[in-house]
Amino acid sequence: MLLSSVTWATEVKSPNGNIVLTFTVEKGRPTYTLSYKGREVVRPSHLGLELAKDKHASMGTDERDLMTDFSLDKEETSSFDETWQPVWGETKDIRNHYNEYVATLSQRWLSAPPAVAKGGPRLQPRQHRRTILIRFRVYDDGIGFRYEFPQQPDLNYFLIKEEHSEFAMAGDHKAWWLPGDYDTQEQETQESKLSEIRARFQEAVNWGNSSVAVFSPTGVQTSLQMKSEDGLYINIHEAACLDYATMHLELVDAETKALTTKLDGNSNVYTPNPKRSPYPLPQPFTFVSHLTPDATGLKGCMQTPCKTPWRTVMVSDDARDMLSSNLILNLNEPCKLEDTSWIHPTKYCGVWWEMIVGRGNWHYTNDFPSIQLDKIDWTKVKPNGTHKANNENVKRYIDFAAKNGLDQVLVEGWNVGWEDWANMWKRDVFDFVTPYPDFDIKMLNDYAHSKGVKLLMHHETSSSTQNYERHMEEAFNLMNKYGYDAVKTGYVGDIIPRGDHHYSQSMNNHYLHVVKEAAKHHIMVNAHEATRPTGICRTYPNLVGNESARGTEYEAFGGSRPDHTCILPFTRLQGGPMDYTPGIFVTKLSEWSNNPSWARITIAGSLALYLTMYSPLQMAADLPENYEKFDDAFQFIRDVACDWDQSIYLEAEPADYITVARKAKGTNNWFIGGKCDENGHKTNIKLDFLEKGKKYDCTIYADAKDAHYETNPQAYTITKKVVKAGDVLKLTEAPGGGFAVSLIAK
Ligand code: NOJ
Ligand code: CA
Repeated sequence: MLLSSVTWATEVKSPNGNIVLTFTVEKGRPTYTLSYKGREVVRPSHLGLELAKDKHASMGTDERDLMTDFSLDKEETSSFDETWQPVWGETKDIRNHYNEYVATLSQRWLSAPPAVAKGGPRLQPRQHRRTILIRFRVYDDGIGFRYEFPQQPDLNYFLIKEEHSEFAMAGDHKAWWLPGDYDTQEQETQESKLSEIRARFQEAVNWGNSSVAVFSPTGVQTSLQMKSEDGLYINIHEAACLDYATMHLELVDAETKALTTKLDGNSNVYTPNPKRSPYPLPQPFTFVSHLTPDATGLKGCMQTPCKTPWRTVMVSDDARDMLSSNLILNLNEPCKLEDTSWIHPTKYCGVWWEMIVGRGNWHYTNDFPSIQLDKIDWTKVKPNGTHKANNENVKRYIDFAAKNGLDQVLVEGWNVGWEDWANMWKRDVFDFVTPYPDFDIKMLNDYAHSKGVKLLMHHETSSSTQNYERHMEEAFNLMNKYGYDAVKTGYVGDIIPRGDHHYSQSMNNHYLHVVKEAAKHHIMVNAHEATRPTGICRTYPNLVGNESARGTEYEAFGGSRPDHTCILPFTRLQGGPMDYTPGIFVTKLSEWSNNPSWARITIAGSLALYLTMYSPLQMAADLPENYEKFDDAFQFIRDVACDWDQSIYLEAEPADYITVARKAKGTNNWFIGGKCDENGHKTNIKLDFLEKGKKYDCTIYADAKDAHYETNPQAYTITKKVVKAGDVLKLTEAPGGGFAVSLIAK
């Protein structure tokens, strides 16, 4: 252990003693370390924030950094142990058990006495004192810490230039990382050593996305999953990111000369930022927090009393613990909605995939070079004949949903404005209330309701956020009027007004504002392209989904690697569920469209995703006619639950395989899913979690012997048998495949 310099620090242990946090103030700088079963996880790492000067400084805005010259005034410890019930989730009960440590720190300084007139009274220098708290919670599976700023005369309003929370890794770990980007999270994960990030960075960027802003050749996103050479799984993320910018991490490696470097446009050139931090650089393999700036380049406007999000480090020697951890949810506030009876798990299909692959359109006419919403009489416009949100097609999906027990039908392209919706810097892009002439909103909702189905609303904002905020109340009223209770929002393209970024403090406030306003209307929210979640669905459980990563749509844009879905649960899913939109059965898109792209997955693998990619909102994304060809396999999608009493991760290895068994909420039925990468996987599942003495009808949807995601993705077998507790299922997953099992109690 390399803790010699801080052996005199305070030590705080996790409830089972496996995790040890130390904290001290070393030469005026708050410093912590973390160990797991005696092994180094975080080496001595500094904490602090750099503040910015502002033209309003004379009005009491504070710009003295919160980095150095601290003394430790007070230390408090306490313990907490409580079990709570989420509105929806992977388990019925969640235990929140931690030991807490709070350090109260202060900075003291004298300001020069104001100049006085000759002969006037001599003024005394003023004594200043500023206090901040750093609160740590130490769990058995990791830690969270945050900064808290009490209200006080010397810290009232302040602007954040950068947060400098360090995470000094103990070695050149393997990491599964996405390039740090202020505007997109839709990249494929890179697997490399920390020392290889710089060389791999340029090819890792998704330059094709409609909004890209990378900031450093060693900048990465959270949640960042790592594995040390001696088998420790370490994950860095954040929890409860509220009224604050989303955090990225910047790796200080041997070559890094500045904390903040900027890539020069799309080239491989980066230049040190002249306004680099004045503080000494930490040791190599240290990550330093890097917040998303707003349009001014600054990273936060704060008013005390206030606090930062929690910074989290999860650690275990068992990869399954990364997936079953509730640390992020636990660090969020309890549910703030009094009535949650209207929030429910939802399975849906949608008028969507056929547009994504290019076989139809969102827009209604081709006749205008551009659209001004208030100047067009839509009843007189010539239709292009390819508009998919039309009455007949939507009814077809409603019939399909009703026949197959799906709850809702998403319809995209129902509202006017899609003719010039993206990347035009267009402010008044949608009004969210006017349907195209071939979408009869009343008739279609009535038709759906008569069949026990609901329509799922779509609000693509094109990132014109003020436009959305202006129309939102009216848009939600329209939803209430016609009986919609869920909305998929979207933030494609650069943020309008120009200059802001998708993950800034102001945008994070926008996303939360939408969720809170929606709750008042009893509307569930599924936000695409919004900031990656940090567990706030505990506090606002009507936030039932986010995209915030590379979803199934990319299978139509060139495809994703077969191991993509074996990484996401370790990374993107840490903060909350993803609307991944699984369920593609006809994976060679050229079989039914002109799109030569293909999904790198077998049918059995597609079924597995309903288990391995936990979400209370699950889409059956393929077309009704494609499912009808494989109706026996589709039975699993009809049957599978999306809300659970219990979840047991049976085996897991990042980017290789994940196997999970889940008990459906309020029943005795179990479902098991296994998903693997391009190498295939063999597994023996001992059914020792089933109720003893009971029999179960077991249906196994498996890859056929010759199945392969590339050459034979539609080869599957369905086996039925009766099983009991203790029986063993022997299963083989094909390359890029998986399996799904339903166990219905007899
Ligand atoms: C991107 C979303 O991820 C996708 O699902 C949606 O169809 C398009 N934007 C259009 O809103
Ligand atoms: Ca997207």
